[in-house]
Amino acid sequence: MNLKDYYIDFFVRHGHKQIPSAPVVPENDPSVLFNTAGMQPLIPYLMGQPHPYGTRLCDYQKCIRTNDLDSVGDTTHHTFFEMLGNWSLGDYFKEESISWSFEFLTKDLNIPVNRLAVTVFAGDDTIPFDEESYEKWLSLGIPKERIAKTVSDNFWIAGESGPCGPDTEIFYFRSEEEIPEVFDPEDSRWVEIWNNVFMQYHKNQDGKVTNLPHKNVDTGMGVERTTAILEGVNDNYLSSIWKKVIEKISSISGLPYEGEYQKSMRIIADHIRTAVFISADPAGIKPSNTDQGYILRRLIRRAIRHAKKLNIPMDSNWEVELASVILDQYASYYHELEENRGVVLEVLTNEKEKFNRTLEKGLKEFEKALQRNHSIDDLTAFHLYDTYGFPIELTVELASERGISVDEAGFEKRFKEHQELSRTASAGKFKGGLAGNGEIETKYHTATHLLNAALKEVVGKDVHQKGSNITAERMRFDFSCDHKLTEEEKRKAEDLVNAWIEEGLEVQVEEMKKEDAIASGAECMFLEKYPDIVTVYSIGTVSKELCGGPHVKNTRELGHFKIIKEEASSAGVRRIKAVLE
Ligand code: SER
Repeated sequence: MNLKDYYIDFFVRHGHKQIPSAPVVPENDPSVLFNTAGMQPLIPYLMGQPHPYGTRLCDYQKCIRTNDLDSVGDTTHHTFFEMLGNWSLGDYFKEESISWSFEFLTKDLNIPVNRLAVTVFAGDDTIPFDEESYEKWLSLGIPKERIAKTVSDNFWIAGESGPCGPDTEIFYFRSEEEIPEVFDPEDSRWVEIWNNVFMQYHKNQDGKVTNLPHKNVDTGMGVERTTAILEGVNDNYLSSIWKKVIEKISSISGLPYEGEYQKSMRIIADHIRTAVFISADPAGIKPSNTDQGYILRRLIRRAIRHAKKLNIPMDSNWEVELASVILDQYASYYHELEENRGVVLEVLTNEKEKFNRTLEKGLKEFEKALQRNHSIDDLTAFHLYDTYGFPIELTVELASERGISVDEAGFEKRFKEHQELSRTASAGKFKGGLAGNGEIETKYHTATHLLNAALKEVVGKDVHQKGSNITAERMRFDFSCDHKLTEEEKRKAEDLVNAWIEEGLEVQVEEMKKEDAIASGAECMFLEKYPDIVTVYSIGTVSKELCGGPHVKNTRELGHFKIIKEEASSAGVRRIKAVLE
């Protein structure tokens, strides 16, 4: 049994229902790219909505945090991690929560009480000292010298607003040195392992704090950190979680996990694991230059560069071997890994092949620029990105290995300008359908894709686009259909488009080979008009079309869609005129 199994077993024995981990890409929250904490998918229930599994829940949740990507490579930072959690939704509160945490740590995990210390909320102007938690810890045998009272570290909220409350954090003394009698949370030998949040408040956007309908408990424990502690290792990558992955990298590269190789091995291990979980997610993320797809691309490319540093031959299938170890290790916990094994391996190999075509040349270019100017200016950084596909942090990392810095702000400016330009340019390619390429035309363009998808659902799969024309005032859409649409068909198509708009679906763009695009089921009007490498726009899971763009980023930008006319265009072709209001 490992920590996850012990944890779930304990809380199930104590009346909790185990809930499945939510996907890493949040299903109903376009404001964040990834789930960053166990409680995030539970926010509606912490706010008062009844949960179908009841009032006592526990799980292990996949989380991704990319805010300190640069720190990965040390002994403790990871971009992907699992968080153990148990929740009370208006059920038990401080008394049981603290007792169970203590029991689990000291009985099930056999941690000596002497190695534990805690913090509790000291109280501020609005919320009083958490005396109940303090007393509870004392009664369990934690001496008062090991209970620190703090304010800022003992109030938990995800971001700026949302459900929140005072918390009590549990620390473990990680060192072989003598354990000091008085606990100092700033002493790095004490490591936080568990956070119990007593979520009874809600903070709104204006900073106003109100009571939640119920008093909840939200706890979180990081699997990687706690496992390393239990196994007595000071480097997470030496724990059982990473053992096989690191061994695999060692055997592929023929190098030991020692000295100068360690950093690269950790980066490869971490980034490939995260890439496996992102690409196995039901959201179907593929490497691209925007949003989650860009994170995925950056992770894989950074791993590739470090694999190269370890002299791993690029034409071996190292990425498949490594990902297979990870897939095997986690498959029994996350069924999507088994289901999407093929997709994951394909994503990694495709991205490797794509990047490998330019990486070597890019590295030469980097060296040349360095010899020429003894620095990397924004123009060079942008050139490395645009021509050789080097994500900016890769360039920054290469530079910092030589002790020089990169003009990142200058790069960002060029990056933005370039994005604007490519939107305009690709819009120009489709003059036939798209008269201008302002904001409103862009919205109509996305609406065309939605209408196309809606007609397929309402009228039938054989509906195909035959043409379109867009002005700033309206859109016109021609499609194959053998009958005049009924009032009901029109209304249904309209309702469907509006429902998708309201859902706030993300519009994703990716580049792929034409035949792969067609094989993946993407719609396309004039196949022969497209080059071998095509851009494909997907809108949530409702639409996928070969297209030059431009499109909005999220369907919510479209407003309200209304069909104003449906008429014959030519034999077997109908025409719809519609507006966005
Ligand atoms: N929400 C708290 C955390 O993330 C406890 O789960 O630490």
